[in-house]
Amino acid sequence: MKLIYIGAGFVGTCSAAVAADSGHDVLVYDIDQTKIDKLGSGDYNQIQSCLFEEGLADLLIRNKERIKFTFDYNLVESFLNDGDAVFMCLPTPEIAETGESNLSYYFTAAEKLAESLVKRNQGKQEKYIVIINKSTVPVDMVNKTEELLNKAGVNNFGVVSNPEFLVEGKAISGSLKPDRIVVGANSQKDFEVMRVVYQRFFSSPTVEYLEVSPEEAAAGKLLANFVLFNKLAVCFDVVGRTCETFDNVKFENVRKILTSDKRIGSWGLYDSLYAGGSCLIKDSRSLLHQLKSAGQKVDLVDEIYSANHRQLQTFLDRAEKEANFNWGDKVVTLLGTAFKRDTNDIRNSASIKIVKFLLEKKVKQINIFDPAALGWFKELFPESEVIKYYDNETVAIDKSDAIIIATDWPQFRELDKVLVVLGKKPLIMDGRRILSHQYKELGEIGYDIIAVGSPFLEGKKVGK
Ligand SMILES: NC(=O)c1ccc[n+]([C@@H]2O[C@H](COP(=O)([O-])OP(=O)(O)OC[C@H]3O[C@@H](n4cnc5c(N)ncnc54)[C@H](O)[C@@H]3O)[C@@H](O)[C@H]2O)c1
Repeated sequence: MKLIYIGAGFVGTCSAAVAADSGHDVLVYDIDQTKIDKLGSGDYNQIQSCLFEEGLADLLIRNKERIKFTFDYNLVESFLNDGDAVFMCLPTPEIAETGESNLSYYFTAAEKLAESLVKRNQGKQEKYIVIINKSTVPVDMVNKTEELLNKAGVNNFGVVSNPEFLVEGKAISGSLKPDRIVVGANSQKDFEVMRVVYQRFFSSPTVEYLEVSPEEAAAGKLLANFVLFNKLAVCFDVVGRTCETFDNVKFENVRKILTSDKRIGSWGLYDSLYAGGSCLIKDSRSLLHQLKSAGQKVDLVDEIYSANHRQLQTFLDRAEKEANFNWGDKVVTLLGTAFKRDTNDIRNSASIKIVKFLLEKKVKQINIFDPAALGWFKELFPESEVIKYYDNETVAIDKSDAIIIATDWPQFRELDKVLVVLGKKPLIMDGRRILSHQYKELGEIGYDIIAVGSPFLEGKKVGK
């Protein structure tokens, strides 16, 4: 099939790469030329520096004959003449703090697409084409897209909701072996087109291939993210807090008790300083906005969102409250700017809020290191008198008064080896429990430790 992807972000690029690998002829369009140049470069490092996703660069290079990246809309127009489907992979961020999704990127792209669809085959619009919402959108979005296309005079088309469930950091492996494909359509014809698009998965015994209404597909996506977000919030705000409150209640042991109950499951039962990323917060807020607009009570949805904020604030406040740590004039090292390991995505990352907090507290210096996500972070917080960037964690932590571990990069687990030989003993703030295997030993040699899911550990005075 001939497939077009509008938007070369995490979703557009990863889905397009998997489609090319499935044998389709794929064109990816984006308005960001730098992104297009890097993704289409055929160069491993350039692709990685743009979208850090395990397996993505390999897949793009391996399928380079079947996937093209373009910034030129003329190419899109000529591809549309005999195109089978267009995937809309545009951002849908929250508008300020309202919960409402900003659909302007989507509509701008859809309006431009409509103009081109009308011109297909010299205006004859002979070939049936399906427009697919991959972006996470409000529940009734398919109708709005249909309305827009009809108004523009587009004929011979269908609109389908096909939400994306990829997990950043595992986007490629997850998309090559998805647990489910959800297709929401209003006509049999559209379901049939989608079965060919997803033939690789439609006939797979390991993939749940679900055909539902477009509204069910869109609602299912928002609700899935809310249920996951809810699980994280319960873990942070109740499970973790309980372990922070009582002595001899080790988070890892409580976790084992909980996760060995199959009804509870293991996902989300990791204590952390914050649940960031581009989806969980935004999608729960969108759900809240849509339910509220329909006159429903949204106390629980709102509380889950607040619990996440509370978690980060509680963690940061513990430094003054429990360790008597005065931030003013201190050198603080921030380890990790990505919202989680294995990605360079910093959207809604705890580290953004932490830097703002530290600037407000008027710290003397903030040393920052991340193995993959410094590029976008530097654009947000350029290097200055106060903000300094480092190439590795060992140099970054030297001579600091506090270390905040914000991202669960596996290499930070080895930090204890550096800490053991460090002259000065900074306050350790472990927002990921990544050093939990060493808290006792680090305390013995004089480190004060504040970790999510543990009471304050005051380091032994000896060696301080
Ligand atoms: N990132 C995820 O993990 C994830 C998972 C599931 C669903 N989603 C949803 O998928 C959608 C896309 O998310 P993403 O993370 O890929 O976003 P992204 O910001 O990484 O990518 C979006 C891309 O769209 C491009 N763009 C904006 N306007 C355009 C236009 N008019 N024409 C062409 N391109 C345009 C941007 O330049 C950008 O490259 C969102 O609705 C998101 O909620 C994301």
